[in-house]
Amino acid sequence: MRPPLTGGRGGGGYSGGGFSGGRGGSSGGRARGGGGQGFGDRGRGRGMRGRGRGERDRGRGGPRRGGGMKGGSKVIVEPHRHAGVFIAKGKEEALVTKNLLPGEAVYNEKRISVQNEDGTKVEYRVWNPFRSKLAAAILGGVDNIYIKPGAKVLYLGAASGTTVSHVSDLVGPEGCVYAVEFSHRSGRDLVNMAKKRTNIIPIIEDARHPAKYRMLVGMVDVIFSDVAQPDQARIVILNASFFLKTGGHFVISIKANCIDSTVPAEAVFQSEVKKLQQEQFKPAEQVTLEPFERDHACVVGTYRAPKKTKAATAA
Ligand SMILES: C[S@@+](CC[C@H](N)C(=O)[O-])C[C@H]1O[C@@H](n2cnc3c(N)ncnc32)[C@H](O)[C@@H]1O
Repeated sequence: MRPPLTGGRGGGGYSGGGFSGGRGGSSGGRARGGGGQGFGDRGRGRGMRGRGRGERDRGRGGPRRGGGMKGGSKVIVEPHRHAGVFIAKGKEEALVTKNLLPGEAVYNEKRISVQNEDGTKVEYRVWNPFRSKLAAAILGGVDNIYIKPGAKVLYLGAASGTTVSHVSDLVGPEGCVYAVEFSHRSGRDLVNMAKKRTNIIPIIEDARHPAKYRMLVGMVDVIFSDVAQPDQARIVILNASFFLKTGGHFVISIKANCIDSTVPAEAVFQSEVKKLQQEQFKPAEQVTLEPFERDHACVVGTYRAPKKTKAATAA
């Protein structure tokens, strides 16, 4: 593990981070998403992660609003178990990514500057789980996000690029984010951001028609989807058939009431998982995004998983 990076008093550009700027908050009460379930041979009930009051939960009252890290305290930044993600520890803890463009915020998020042992400075951006499903899944204890330094990611439902910017930090200069968004309004911000963050390729198109952007996108390691559409599974399946490499991975945020508001959220998640399983997707894990997003789940897994040979199994 890399040594922790220690910030001086006040931590440079840091002036009280945390998640106080969250959207609305949550009761943190109902956990209908079923926090962390395994699939297939791992068996139901096993692979439970992010359960109960893990990293994400501050108890029945939900996350503390108006809380977060306080400026003026000593801040230490440590690597998270997901490569490319970090945790800033001061009076409070915050998830952060290393800023690819030091000195610049993307959506007015807090920044933390810390000094390395050799005197060089590194800047991190606070990643707010109320504004990012991927951050919510990480705090929910998801085992693997597959998005890591150097990865090529196809991101469906980029909006104005809040989460895309953190994925851009995470994959770093060796990686690449193909960010698809069909709203021209949100797309404008995305395109502007990509002018500076050169590892982002903005694509203003409907993700239902991947043939329209096939000339722009290479084969990718991971598809991340957050389109919040009733036909999301179909959209992901179609894009995977064009761009996701065999043995690649998917990370899908499912908003239950976008798909069917007449049945319990868990039934929607199960039916979405089934659709994916029928198309060579092998879900490995499901985590609830509560308390950050109500009735949302994140499902991750492998696409066209190479079959285990007998020799490999025996080894
Ligand atoms: C929940 S928001 C995404 C938020 C974003 N992932 C973030 O964390 O910053 C869903 C986005 O998907 C976009 N979207 C919905 N359907 C789409 C489609 N068929 N093709 C491309 N984008 C789509 C919407 O315009 C919206 O911006």
